[in-house]
Amino acid sequence: MLETEKIRQLIAQALTARTFSYSPYSHFQVGAALLTKDGQIYRGCNIENAAYGPSNCAERTAIFKAVSEGQLDFAAIAITGGKEGEHDYAAPCGVCRQVMMEFCEPDFEIIVAKSETEYKVYTLKELLPEGFGRANLQ
Ligand code: THU
Repeated sequence: MLETEKIRQLIAQALTARTFSYSPYSHFQVGAALLTKDGQIYRGCNIENAAYGPSNCAERTAIFKAVSEGQLDFAAIAITGGKEGEHDYAAPCGVCRQVMMEFCEPDFEIIVAKSETEYKVYTLKELLPEGFGRANLQ
């Protein structure tokens, strides 16, 4: 498990990412900060669309930013969410869990945070047991 100071740093980055949330339809703001195994952090926010369907979650924004820059080894992600002006726990949606399944190992840490001191830590295996992944196609 990541040390407390590293968890707090990652949550702080997710809170910054959340300030860029583009969510004029749901007014639910999400920020994520993805930590690579070599110590880099990729931030992402949710980005909504008037046609609704093309909207993207914060987690996938961060993961796709990282993968598109050649990163494929991930250690952890911190996620912060809540309605505008509020802070609440926001666990990743099913689609984001499946995208994590593609790129992350079972012990990948998912930090669901309300603040730098209020958070829960899960593993991908806990949030997506028996997930379908690349190994199933081999
Ligand atoms: N959202 C995320 O960004 N991450 C999640 O894991 C849950 C939902 C976003 C999508 C949409 O912009 C808003 O929160 C409300 O669903």
